[in-house]
Amino acid sequence: MNLMNPLRSVSFLALAVILHATTPTLSAQALKWHATSQTRLAAPGETNLHFAFSLTNISAGEVIITGVRPSCGCTTAKLPPLPWHLAPGKDGQIEANVDIRGKRGMISKVVFVDSPSGTNMLTLVIHIPEDRARNMELALADRQAVFKGECANCHVLPAVGRTGAALYVAACGVCHESDHRATMVPSLVALAKPTGRDYWDQWIRKGKEGSLMPAFAKDQGGPLTEEQIQSLVNHLVTTFTNAPVKVPSPQAGTR
Ligand code: HEC
Ligand code: HEC
Repeated sequence: MNLMNPLRSVSFLALAVILHATTPTLSAQALKWHATSQTRLAAPGETNLHFAFSLTNISAGEVIITGVRPSCGCTTAKLPPLPWHLAPGKDGQIEANVDIRGKRGMISKVVFVDSPSGTNMLTLVIHIPEDRARNMELALADRQAVFKGECANCHVLPAVGRTGAALYVAACGVCHESDHRATMVPSLVALAKPTGRDYWDQWIRKGKEGSLMPAFAKDQGGPLTEEQIQSLVNHLVTTFTNAPVKVPSPQAGTR
């Protein structure tokens, strides 16, 4: 056990050196942040979380913020036009929005704030509680519930104006392609039954009464237009054919 200790201190030293080399340096002195890390609990059904980071230029000189880089496409930042000149003593605020649709559990996002003298890192931590049981209960009582109220944020809005493959991802994939989907949601990829134009058309339009599969046609209380349904059928008959799929057998030497 004792033998490990020198090794440990070596790796800690290495880490310290790396951190020292890459740690954001800006204005540890120049900018004072109210907090560089914030944690939030998402309310049930909430799809967008808003954060505000307050800062003050506590240096004697001007600080120029030249760029703000969120760590992912799901995070957007809002601040005064760049370059943002912050006079000595001035307060400011950087706002950030995180789109949490399709996310679960504990997630953390980062926003980098650049200035000629270095980079600051803001951390946004979000805990997203499971809404599954409640959603399921509502859908069991009314399978069209997915298209209503806050459910529409994830089950309808992403599909608006979409057709074909993109529509499939937004309207169907949300349930059928999710790794976390409930067991009663089947995979559509290799259905063990004949499918075809009529098959897809009917399932999309009417879904299945007494199940969680909603009816998507407008005249059935769904969100999809005739044009969208046609485009989706066209996509599905060519993508999800259930003719026996030829999978090349993994033989040695083929890679
Ligand atoms: C709210 C979740 C949800 C959404 C969104 C959804 N489905 Fe379903 N779907 C289900 C469930 C649950 C079933 C199983 C129904 C049952 O009990 O038989 C199902 C069944 C199906 C089946 C029957 C599969 C079989 O075993 O024969 C097809 C086809 C289908 N869905 C296509 C679609 C298409 C196409 C879309 C998009 C327009 C879509 N689904 C959107 C939940 C969903
Ligand atoms: C934040 C986005 C979001 C909202 C809001 C949302 N859903 Fe879902 N829903 C999903 C995702 C993602 C899935 C796929 C399963 C998973 O990943 O949990 C899903 C799956 C489902 C399913 C299929 C069963 C399952 O759990 O796999 C049903 C039914 C459903 N949702 C109903 C609803 C209802 C009813 C509401 C409103 C009360 C609702 N959803 C609101 C994202 C959402």
